[in-house]
Formats: sequence, structure tokens, C-alpha cells
Amino acid sequence: MCGIVGYIGHRKATPILIDGLKRLEYRGYDSAGIALIEDEGLIHEKTAGKVDALVAHLADRTFTSHVGIAHTRWATHGEPSDLNAHPQVDNSGNIAVVHNGIIENYRALRQILEQQGYKILSDTDTEIIAHLIGFHYEDDLTEAVRASMSLVVGTYAIAVIDKRSPDVIVAARNGAPLLIACGENENFVASDAAAILSYTNKVTYLEDREIATVSINNFQISTIEKVKVDRQATELDWTLGAIEKAGHDYFMHKEIHEQPETLHNAMRGRLNFEEATVRLNGLTDHLDDLSRIKRVIITACGTSWHAALIGEYLLEEYAGLPVEVEYASEFRYRSPIIDDGTLVLVISQSGETADTLAAMREARRKGAKALGIVNSVGSTIARESDGGVYIHAGPEIGVASTKAFTSQIMVLSLITILLGRMRNISANMGSEMIAALESVPEKIQSILDREDEIKKIAELYYQSNNFLYLGRGVNFPVALEGALKLKEISYIHAEGYPAAEMKHGPIALIDEKMPVVVIATKDSIYDKVMSNISQVRARKGRVIAIATEGDTEIAQHVNHVFYIPAIKQCFTPLLSVIPLQLMAYHMAVLRDCNVDQPRNLAKSVTVE
Ligand code: G6P
Repeated sequence: MCGIVGYIGHRKATPILIDGLKRLEYRGYDSAGIALIEDEGLIHEKTAGKVDALVAHLADRTFTSHVGIAHTRWATHGEPSDLNAHPQVDNSGNIAVVHNGIIENYRALRQILEQQGYKILSDTDTEIIAHLIGFHYEDDLTEAVRASMSLVVGTYAIAVIDKRSPDVIVAARNGAPLLIACGENENFVASDAAAILSYTNKVTYLEDREIATVSINNFQISTIEKVKVDRQATELDWTLGAIEKAGHDYFMHKEIHEQPETLHNAMRGRLNFEEATVRLNGLTDHLDDLSRIKRVIITACGTSWHAALIGEYLLEEYAGLPVEVEYASEFRYRSPIIDDGTLVLVISQSGETADTLAAMREARRKGAKALGIVNSVGSTIARESDGGVYIHAGPEIGVASTKAFTSQIMVLSLITILLGRMRNISANMGSEMIAALESVPEKIQSILDREDEIKKIAELYYQSNNFLYLGRGVNFPVALEGALKLKEISYIHAEGYPAAEMKHGPIALIDEKMPVVVIATKDSIYDKVMSNISQVRARKGRVIAIATEGDTEIAQHVNHVFYIPAIKQCFTPLLSVIPLQLMAYHMAVLRDCNVDQPRNLAKSVTVE
């Protein structure tokens, strides 16, 4: 949610800042801006719209500065406009600030500043920070930032420059991600490693309530209370290729097609064939506790929450554990009952979602062990959890999650085998499950190879206004995810429902204009799903079925069928979601939507 990049070094700052903004645009894209310290002083330029609008706005200008900060925004305070875009500057015009997060006591601070005679021009909470720093500045920018941020309540990642201190960028963090990256005679500040990966892979993450003073050749970190911090840098193993489109029109398309490989990566080195179980390094220190747990709570948001629902089916069926799945935004404000036997699993692609992070902190405060299932290495949830398992899906840039979803299901499947083998399931069943998981990448590839079939269905229905998605059992969360994908990127209204619930409401909507996507794979509840299909057909609904290869019967009862390979029933979501991802993608392209940057959404929601 919003992107920050800052540069100080031997090269000209502007091209590096613009390149960083473009790579961060998936995090926020309603306005963008840049601030530099030029010979004539601090300059700042900003525009509503995407980074390209900023580039066009800067086209006739030449900049020589070697230090600057830049921002791409997802509006929280104030509409997207030139005025509300960041950087925000103080009244003296010396100080520029970019900010991710929300300042909760902004109204009170604004009032105090106005009483002191400050003129507040924008609707943003960020402008308040610029004035506060201006108010506190004597001769040391770091100390002015420290004094200012100690007055601020809320979440922030900020980067600040001041024309009187042209040799430093000062950065601070509380509750929103920020890192410092080191190159040769150059250093960077960024909210996300994607911004700096073309220059260096050596990063140091700031923790909450820390401030960094970054110059060309070094940086110092201290807490807001002025305690010095020494922290080792981390070397990222993400390659540049991983954050580029590699010939695909959209990142989402690339990421859908990466799934055979990402799922392979999620399993790599983790399958223990001899003992018919799995080995998860992030959990080795917790095996005793895991063998004793009596109950699991899984918490997450968005697509990760759908993966959690699939985890519920898996863990109940094979580990025999009662599982509750909670929206993180709800969990954090409830009084969840947590005892010694409760394990909390926290699922997050970004590892930074504000509600998920708060839910995890709440669970830990109440004494629970919290394990993360996270994609972004070094993210806050990964660092603050008691342990966990990385999904190794690589950077996911498309705002609508695809490859992270299947990798989350894969990791939940591995955890299920681990916990199941400690409890109910036999070595034979363990081996059968491992073999089934191993077959997944190839089976997904065979689905991707038939993308054209899905595209043809998309061509028939992309002008529909409403869609219903139905599934049962472990495929009910897939119906939810299919509907979410479609509405996120094509803006078609879509609902996911458990197939049998349709008759308690959505059936009223069904007529010849209502396409209904039904996951009707050959499993123990196939006949029941077929009855649900008849109920739709009897009301002239158009049925698009996702069925199992070899099902010769279904085609007579539906309008369109897309076949997926057979697999052990509990793992069907790994396959059944792929045609739904592709269908959403093609409908969005046909409707001329910006697939990777759907309106109003952000990749990583670091505000409440
Ligand atoms: C946003 C994204 C979704 C994502 C959700 C949770 O809404 O647009 O794609 O599923 O956040 O994100 P997380 O990073 O915690 O999985």
C-alpha cells in the first residue's frame, strides 16, 4: 500500500527513483511524486495518476541531484490529486516527506500546528509530519525526525530529506515496512525490495519505532528513544527476472503460468519419502508443541483467507484437529479463547497486512504460539511470528493473488501431512498424499496448456453483469476465490456460494442471463453437486462446469465443461482454481481492464 523509494549515491537520483517507482506501482497507483535536492534548493514535483503521468510531467526538466525521495500513493487521507500526492513539504520549503501508513492523531496535531501559525495546504496526514519536522529542526535532521515521530500515534514508514542536510536521507518506521539497501557508494531506502533489486540484493529491514540516517557510504539505526541498533544485512535471493514480465502482457498472466514451478519450489527439499512425512525447517524447533496441540485457529485476509478455509478441511480431515478460520480484521477485536493447546496459523503473502499482523500480535499477547505461512522473506509477520514456513512463490506483483494462493494451499497440505503423521494418518496414507502433491505441477501444466479453451468461454461471457460460483466441500473456498478473482480485476459482480446454499437465496437471481460456474469434480459429493446443477438448469441458468477428466456424463447437463486431471480429492483446489484464475484474467482483458492494477485495490494493505 503506497510505495517509497529513496536514493543517495554517486549516480543521478531521478532515473533510479523513477525506475523504483515503476517497480513499486503495484502497491499504489493513484498519484506519484519526487523530491530532490538540486543546486537551487529542494524541488518537489507530483501528479495525480500513474507514474507515467509523473514521467510526462518531468519530461522537459533536467535534474542533477544525487539525493532524492519518491512515492507512489494509494489514498487514505484526501482524494488522489496533485496537492495530496507525496512528497509533502513544510512551510519553509526545506523539508520533504514521503509516507506510507496512517497518522491517527493527525487532527489533534493539525490543530496544534495551525495554532502555531502553520499553513496546512493538503488533506493529507503526511503534511503534518513535514511541519512537525520543520518545527523541531535545529541543525540535525535525525533529531528533528526523532522528536516529531515521538509525538505521532499511528503507522508510518517515512523517508525525509532537507536541503540543509543534503548528505542524508532520514527514514523511520512504525507498523509499515521499510528497508535500507546498500550498494557500492550508494544506498537506498525502500518500502519493498522490488524497488532496489536491480541495484543490490543486500538489505537491512527497519523494525518498529526505529530511525535510520542514511548517507552515501553508511547508515546508522537507532530507536526512537535513541538506543543504537546493530543489525546484520540480509541477502535476498530474488532475481531481477522474478520482478519482470518476461514476455507476458501482465504480471498476473505470468504468475498464473509460473504455478507449476512455484509449487515445485514450495515442496523442494521438504518431502520425506522414507518416513512418509514432510520436513519443514521453520517448524523443527516446535515439533514437541505441535504434537500436543488440540486446536488450530487460522487467520488471514482476502485470498489468504480462502487458503485458510481449505486448510480447515485438510487439517480436520487428516490431522483430526478442530480448526477455526477467522478474518484477521475480526479476530483482532474479539476475545478469542486461547489456551495451551491452541496453535494460531497466520497466512499472508506480503507478511505486512495490517489486520493480519495485528491479529497475530493479539494471539501472541494472549499466549498463543503463532506460526506464519508467508511469502515475503524478512517481512514483519515472518519476523515476529514464533516460527513458520515460507511458501517460496517468489515476488507476486499482480494485485490479484494467484501463485501465492496455490503455494499457501501447498504449504497447508505439507503442514497437514506433518501434523497428521504425528496423529491419525498411516504411513500408507502419508505416502499417498505425498505422491499426489508431487503430481500437482505437471497436472497444472496440462491445464495451462489448454488455456485457449478457457479463453473461448471467457469470450462468450465477458459482457455478463453477474456471475455465481458454486462448489462444495474443499471446493467451496475455491468458488469464493473464483468469484473474488473475477470481481477484483474485471469489476463484474460475482458471488461464491456453497452449492447447496444456492437454494436459500441466490437461486432467486438465476435466469438465462446468469452464468453459474460450478466446480463439479468426481468426488464423494459429485451426485449432490449434479443435483445443484439441475436446479440451475431448470431456471435456465448457463452452467460452466469444472469437471474431472474421464467424466463422460456431465457434458450433457451443462453448457460448457472444462476438464481438469483427477487427483486425490482433498487436493483438487490446487487444480480447480487454475481455470478460474484464467477465466477471470481473460474476461478482464476482454473488458479492457488494467489486470495488474485494478481500481481501488492495493497489493499489500498496510492500513486498517
Ligand atoms: C489485498 C490483496 C489480496 C490479498 C490480501 C491479503 O487485498 O489485494 O490479493 O489476498 O490483501 O494479503 P496478504 O499479503 O496478507 O496475503
